[in-house]
Amino acid sequence: ACHPSKVGKTSARLLETGGTASVRFWVNTALWKQPSGPVFLLIGGESSLSEYDVLSGEHVDLAMKFGALVVAAEHRFYGRSIGVAGLEISNLQYLSSQQALADLAVLHANLSHRFNLPRNHTWISFGGSYPGSLSAWFRLKFPHLVFAAVASSAPVRAQLDFQDYNKVVANSLSDPMIEGSKECVANVRSAFSTLDAALEKGMPFVKHVAKHFNTCTIPNSLKDQGQLVSSLADIFMGAVQYNGELVGINVADLCNTMVNSTMSPYGALQTVANREDLPCLDIDFAHFLKFLSNTTRVKMIGVGERQWYFQTCTEFGYYQTCNVSLGCPFSKFMSLNNSLIACSKVFGTEASELTHSVAFTNEFYGAAHPRGSRILFVNGDIDPWHALSILRNETVSETAIYIRGTAHCANMPSAMSTDPRSLRLARQVTPPLWLEKAIYYISRVCFHIV
Ligand SMILES: *[C@@H]1O[C@H](CO)[C@@H](O)[C@H](O)[C@H]1NC(C)=O
Ligand SMILES: *[C@@H]1O[C@H](CO)[C@@H](O)[C@H](O)[C@H]1NC(C)=O
Ligand SMILES: *[C@@H]1O[C@H](CO)[C@@H](O)[C@H](O)[C@H]1NC(C)=O
Ligand SMILES: *[C@@H]1O[C@H](CO)[C@@H](O)[C@H](O)[C@H]1NC(C)=O
Ligand SMILES: *[C@@H]1O[C@H](CO)[C@@H](O)[C@H](O)[C@H]1NC(C)=O
Ligand SMILES: *[C@@H]1O[C@H](CO)[C@@H](O)[C@H](O)[C@H]1NC(C)=O
Ligand SMILES: *[C@@H]1O[C@H](CO)[C@@H](O)[C@H](O)[C@H]1NC(C)=O
Repeated sequence: ACHPSKVGKTSARLLETGGTASVRFWVNTALWKQPSGPVFLLIGGESSLSEYDVLSGEHVDLAMKFGALVVAAEHRFYGRSIGVAGLEISNLQYLSSQQALADLAVLHANLSHRFNLPRNHTWISFGGSYPGSLSAWFRLKFPHLVFAAVASSAPVRAQLDFQDYNKVVANSLSDPMIEGSKECVANVRSAFSTLDAALEKGMPFVKHVAKHFNTCTIPNSLKDQGQLVSSLADIFMGAVQYNGELVGINVADLCNTMVNSTMSPYGALQTVANREDLPCLDIDFAHFLKFLSNTTRVKMIGVGERQWYFQTCTEFGYYQTCNVSLGCPFSKFMSLNNSLIACSKVFGTEASELTHSVAFTNEFYGAAHPRGSRILFVNGDIDPWHALSILRNETVSETAIYIRGTAHCANMPSAMSTDPRSLRLARQVTPPLWLEKAIYYISRVCFHIV
């Protein structure tokens, strides 16, 4: 998921928020140069959207420049677009990327009617992370509805066993540009191998581990041990994925602790893990299954964990396992096992079925070679998700920007003074130029038609 954008300075009139039983959307008409200004559509997914999605962000800055009508569409089954029927499995069968794209087609028709837009009106879609893939796929599958697409940090290639994620994490932890170092990643590796060794030795060492990391229960089973090491690795994976984008989460701070010579690497890992002031760390795999099985809709804001897990079990996989021979610095207890058990126990999807679903997703959308046109893929080399995206120009109109030193969806918020030079260049030069070219191009096509 991309983190929510910050509140912008732009004041705008919110035209409408759609109904609660259907897919929610927001429209910002304040920047629109009627009637010919393009429509910029921000696509949601994995979490809720809010009115800020039509008030701030790079797509809004570009809308200011191009006089665009800004629209943001929440993804079905996320946020308040869940509908009265809820999150039971019988309803989740209607949750998929394909259904979400069809929703966008319906929204397109609705807004075209409401704003009196002609069929050839210029729509440009935007999205980051999974919605980045949707943005690319909307253009790919509905080229008559959307003129061009920007896909930020979009993992367009589905993969069951996403081992390269932690390969990138290791590279990023050793990247001096973001204050990582070889020593940092070596110490992370050393700390986790000490931890693995203790777990393998059994009692009483497992009990000591439980004490060191303040776990709520003793991790006796492989499943609970998998949960424990994954929770610890998550601290590093999150810091890399969102480096510098969220308060208090960055590689520099983590590595600073990991290389502190007053502690052993294992001691430094304890310091990092116990920084959060939790009563205790819940590593009970059964609790995790219970959490995913809960259909009660309490949280209407933020990530829809059950829904997103369902989509990984039925379309994408994306499980971030640890393969030490690929350079992963974490634990060999991070296998596919727990994810496959969760898919089976919570949603009834078995491993063989999931393998087929992932293969189908790649067949259906074209994986890393979608062969679309007018799609711009933007990625950062720090972000582990770039491993499933498109980093080089595929064709003259399916192009890529690969930014040095930035994390997940870094180009999506508005420009900030802290942006690295590489990001400033990517922002200033390429996307606006590309969009200008796109709009110029359509007028040429129309000239030919006329
Ligand atoms: C568009 O959607 C709104 C509700 O979200 C509905 O009231 C309206 O009838 C729809 N218009 C068209 C043309 O589909
Ligand atoms: C759409 O088509 C109309 C009529 O052919 C033309 O006047 C108009 O410029 C076109 N709009 C765009 C955005 O190309
Ligand atoms: C290293 O860790 C100790 C506590 O173990 C702390 O007092 C010290 O400030 C740390 N050093 C640095 C450079 O962060
Ligand atoms: C489901 O989640 C809600 C909200 O977090 C909680 O109140 C409820 O107890 C949970 N139900 C079960 C069966 O765990
Ligand atoms: C780990 O990566 C190596 C090197 O690419 C590969 O040969 C091996 O099969 C991988 N291990 C697993 C469990 O997939
Ligand atoms: C994964 O499951 C297999 C089969 O049950 C088991 O042999 C293996 O040890 C498990 N690996 C981990 C890391 O839990
Ligand atoms: C990719 O295409 C864009 C737009 O046509 C171009 O500006 C850029 O130089 C190309 N990049 C590479 C690496 O060829």
